[in-house]
Amino acid sequence: MSLKKLHQAAKKAQDKSYAPYSQFHVGAAIIDEQGIIHIGCNIENAAYPIGCCAEQSAVSQMIVNGGQTIKHILIIGSSGEACPPCGACRQIILEHGDKETQIHLETSAGQFNTQSIDDLLPNAFDGSKLDK
Ligand code: THU
Repeated sequence: MSLKKLHQAAKKAQDKSYAPYSQFHVGAAIIDEQGIIHIGCNIENAAYPIGCCAEQSAVSQMIVNGGQTIKHILIIGSSGEACPPCGACRQIILEHGDKETQIHLETSAGQFNTQSIDDLLPNAFDGSKLDK
């Protein structure tokens, strides 16, 4: 797994970001269980609450392309600092990842800070809480 390649993929997605309201452009790139890369960007809307985060759009791509599990996800924002996933995206990463899923955030120094979903969303509400 090459973080450089994943970063390039996230940049490609970020270039497509539709963020006329916040001007905050986010790109996300996932590697799934087959080693396939899926990308997404944030897509805002004049009706603010129906905007879509980059992570969510990358997960949609993964699902539609037949991927099942996020093994790595790299996220970049446009502030020059690390862009930690929002609460809703943490929940989505939890649902479509596993215990080994690694979340990579680009730091202001251009390096990558890697965390697990357990670090970012401890004591989570997940499918095991439902009788399914
Ligand atoms: N955003 C993401 O795409 N992912 C996150 O995890 C945090 C926020 C987007 C949503 C909105 O388009 C913009 O960043 C500002 O919040």
